[in-house]
Order: sequence, then structure tokens, then C-alpha cells
Amino acid sequence: MAEVEVKNDGKTIEVADNSLLTELDGKCSILFACKAGACGSCKVKVLEGMKNLEEPSEEEKAGLATFGTGDNERLLCLCKIKSGKVVVEY
Ligand code: FES
Repeated sequence: MAEVEVKNDGKTIEVADNSLLTELDGKCSILFACKAGACGSCKVKVLEGMKNLEEPSEEEKAGLATFGTGDNERLLCLCKIKSGKVVVEY
């Protein structure tokens, strides 16, 4: 199992290895409005464990170019966790 700690909620959510992080929808306070990289609602800052995430796809890179402002930001709706733990905050 992999896990994602959402700092804003003070809780950690377990997900299967290699999951798309839309898995977090409804399990934490991060909003997933479009689930398609088009709205920016799921943008988070990765505080720890970036190496445990797959590299951004071209689709995610395009969304980040629109909504992202920092190197450690990701759009969780287009982001896959490999394994291990990731800590995020929005
Ligand atoms: S849910 Fe809209 S960009 Fe991720």
C-alpha cells in the first residue's frame, strides 16, 4: 500500500500502489472538480515524497503550466503514486 498525508486535514489515506490519485476524492478535503486537469482545484504542493510519484504526463504538465506556480506542485487528478508515502498541502 501507498499513503498520502493531507496536511490540511491532519490525516493519512491509504491507496493501492500505482493508483491514480483521484482515489482521494471524497476521502479528504481536496476538491476534484473536473478530474481532467482543466480546473486546478486538485493542485497541491508536495512537501515530502515527490520521488514516490510518477513523473507528470504531458497532460499534467499542460495543466501545471496553467495553474502551477512552483516546482513542487502537482495536479492530483492526473498524478499516479508509485508506492511509499507522499505528504501534500493545498
Ligand atoms: S480536478 Fe480539475 S484539475 Fe484536477
